[in-house]
Parts: sequence; structure tokens; C-alpha cells
Amino acid sequence: SDNECSYTYEEYKETADWLLDHTTKRPKVAIICGSGLGGLAELLENKTVIPYERIPRFPQSTVPGHAGQLVFGELNGKQCVCMQGRFHFYEGYGIAKVTYPVRVFHLLGVKTLIVTNAAGGLNPDFKVGDIMLIKDHINMPGFAGQNPLCGHNDDRFGVRFPCMSDAYDKGVFQLAQETAEEQGCSSFLQQGVYCNLGGPSFETIAECKMLQSLGADAVGMSTVPEVIVARHCGLRVFGLSLITNKAVMDYSSEDRANHEEVLQTTTKRALVLQRLVSGLLAKI
Ligand code: 6GU
Repeated sequence: SDNECSYTYEEYKETADWLLDHTTKRPKVAIICGSGLGGLAELLENKTVIPYERIPRFPQSTVPGHAGQLVFGELNGKQCVCMQGRFHFYEGYGIAKVTYPVRVFHLLGVKTLIVTNAAGGLNPDFKVGDIMLIKDHINMPGFAGQNPLCGHNDDRFGVRFPCMSDAYDKGVFQLAQETAEEQGCSSFLQQGVYCNLGGPSFETIAECKMLQSLGADAVGMSTVPEVIVARHCGLRVFGLSLITNKAVMDYSSEDRANHEEVLQTTTKRALVLQRLVSGLLAKI
């Protein structure tokens, strides 16, 4: 293939078969934990932990706040696999590598993908620490030809031209809203459009204004490639963003986006987010 970064069905299958040989777990739900949100995996019961470096063909994670292992187990009675540490385009991986685990999950028998991330708030109503249920996304790299489905289409995964207008499952979204209400966190629950950029530099003020005017409520550097690949192979998707900081929108502001603030907010809100995902799992 012309696309150096694409994999064959057999490669994904080899990774999946290796995992099926190395755990008796058969998860129906996969959870990709965002920056500073890997604590969710610690909640699993009867854990099987497999570091990425042991898994044939699996990429390795390089960012502080991202551990780098698959954790299989039960969360609130549901069989899950958590990615503790995800892969980002800015680490230098091609998007085929970033999304590699998603097709592996599909081959393991996973039916639902839950994605979490840390994101900057663009919507003026959002506050630091808010949790945004992802209603839709803007795949900015896709506008520049960086779509994870570029290259040969293997029909065993999905169709050449998959629909994305139903990317985020409405039923699970509603269940998440109900769960948040029951748990008393409606006051900081938001919903909106997540826009991903390549990173690793944060946005300029002009870029933030542009994204806001395009209808984005939150901005980050992940998630969307995985969602596109998941929808392609028929997984049901639910996503949430923790608003870790407010995107800087005016020239008089002295605020600066920084990774420390991102991690500070995830530390503060990690437990609430974990409880929400865990509560949601009981319902799906
Ligand atoms: Cl402000 N921008 C981006 N691109 N990613 C982020 C962020 C901002 N805050 C957390 N992650």
C-alpha cells in the first residue's frame, strides 16, 4: 500500500488473538482513558493487566499522565477493557497507529467504546471542572487529509464511506445524563461539540476564536480518530470531556494554557468522572 501507516486485517487479528490467549476476559465495553483519567482502570475488579510493550504490534505511550497498559476486569458488574494511556498523533504516530487498539477491541468482541479526554473549554458558559458529554465532533485534521480511514478499505471492518452523523450514541448519552442526575452532578454537566487538533502546541487566540465560531465547545488533541475507526467497524460510542482549562480567547488575558493546569483539574475531578462512567456502565 502507498499508505505506510496502514495495517492488514491479519495484523489486527494477530494482536487480538494474542490477547485472547493471554486473558480469559471477554469484555463487551472498551474504555479509553484520557490524560490524568487512568485512575478509572484501578477500579476494575479481578484485573488482568497487560503492559503495551508485551502486546504484539501495540504502539507505546510517551506522555506523562499516560501509563501504557491494558487493564481487563469488571467495573460495576460489566466486563471491560481499559486503555490506561492512549496514543496521540503529536507523539509522532501515524493515525493508523493511534487507532490501532480500536480495531483490536472490535476483534475481541467489544461492542461499545467509551472515550474520555481532557479538553480546553471554548464555550463561554463552561467552567473549569465541568464534564461535557460529547454530542458531536469536528475532525479538524480530516480537513487536511488526515482521516484514519484514508487508504485501502477492508470491508471486513466496515464500508468505504461510513456515516458520521450518528457517531455518538443517543441512547448511551441519555443514560449518562440520567446517571449524572442521580449522582447529583448535573450542576457541572455540559454537552457539546469536541474539536480535535493535531497538537502538541496549544491554540493561539485567533485559533480559539475561529474554533468557537465554527461551533466547537471544547478543544483537545485526541479522541476523534478513535471514534471514526470505532464507528467504521460498528462500535457504539460514548464520549466525555473534562474541561480542564478555559481556552484563552482575548488578547488582554494573562492566562496561558499549560499541561500542569490540565493535570491539576483531572486530579480534582477524576473521582467524579470515574463514578459517572462506573454508574453508566451498570445501565448499558
Ligand atoms: Cl486549551 N487545547 C488543546 N488542544 N488540548 C487541550 C486543551 C486545550 N486543554 C486540555 N487539552
